[in-house]
Amino acid sequence: MPESKTSERKKDHIELCLQDKVSYKIKTNGFENYDFEHYAATEVEFDKIDLSTEIFGRKISLPFMISCMTGGTSEAKKINEKLALAANILNIPIGVGSQRQALESKKHYSSYRAVINNAGKVPVLGNIGAAQVAMSKNPADQIKLLIDLIEADAMVVHLNPLQELLQNEGEPDFNGLLKNLEIICKNSPVPVIAKEVGSGISKKAAKKLLDAGVKGIDVAGTGGTSWAAVELIRSGQTDTFFSEWGLPTSYCVRTVNELKSKNKFTLIASGGINNGVDVAKSLALGADLSASARIILLELMNNGSEGVVSLIKSWFLTVKKIMYLTGCNNINKLKKIELIRKGELF
Ligand SMILES: Cc1cc2nc3c(=O)[nH]c(=O)nc-3n(C[C@H](O)[C@H](O)[C@H](O)COP(=O)(O)O)c2cc1C
Repeated sequence: MPESKTSERKKDHIELCLQDKVSYKIKTNGFENYDFEHYAATEVEFDKIDLSTEIFGRKISLPFMISCMTGGTSEAKKINEKLALAANILNIPIGVGSQRQALESKKHYSSYRAVINNAGKVPVLGNIGAAQVAMSKNPADQIKLLIDLIEADAMVVHLNPLQELLQNEGEPDFNGLLKNLEIICKNSPVPVIAKEVGSGISKKAAKKLLDAGVKGIDVAGTGGTSWAAVELIRSGQTDTFFSEWGLPTSYCVRTVNELKSKNKFTLIASGGINNGVDVAKSLALGADLSASARIILLELMNNGSEGVVSLIKSWFLTVKKIMYLTGCNNINKLKKIELIRKGELF
């Protein structure tokens, strides 16, 4: 039986994301504009640094998650199995890719369940797009089905207006999104997180989403995967303006974090988080945890689950060194340090 259009698109996305053409070329994640304040009087005992933290009341070993990527194809099942194994070994959360395919047919249910079958007890996040939420006649039941399918601990709604706008078969009409999101948030048995896919969430957008009831914001800003570039390449076009569209991850984290004075929510930094320095800076700017997608997929394809585990461990060795040098023996302390803007150093 031929694959559905949604499945075919997911296959294209995986294949294209294995090429470097899909990353931002000019716009960065912005973290290079910040530096750590070296603390010469550190008394931190390196081996006793505690990297553990919590997400929605669940203890995890690192402030990091494997971002939502795939599902809905047989290739996705294999990828999800291996990603989940890595998440299990590291005791960190993992998201599944858009569950849209599961709304269309039961054929690839197992590609999503591959995550819970291999992730052990780590938090697992479901995922659905803003377009599906906006057009749903029964958003509460729809979300319940997706949560139940993977016994999700939280549900992500991804907002991808730029991608929908540039995709040939895209659905950029999000009219009704906030109303339906509010219904979902009221009825969902698990916390709902709003997430971009690489163009960033501004403070203004985050405020609207928090007012609708979301309990988490994953800013997913620029500097990593450009979904405009992915869709333009898919349709044989180029457009350097939209390929570089969006808000840098560091800007989103810093400004959305200002909303924490009035709202309780989990702030996730993603979008071009490609090393331990990015992770540490994102936490220092206010994120509760950071997350990565494409770099993890590339590592998985090259070196399997073990490669992913080694990569993330190496990042957190860097984070530990930074914590030692800034006088932080736990993640809460790292979240409270002030970064220096590069211009202020001279
Ligand atoms: C192959 C691939 C598939 C993705 N599919 C989804 C998806 O289904 N839902 C979603 O919310 N984000 C999806 N994303 C976006 C990522 O979760 C992330 O927000 C974005 O790629 C930016 O992070 P990065 O720069 O670390 O790649 C996908 C990313 C990749 C690389």
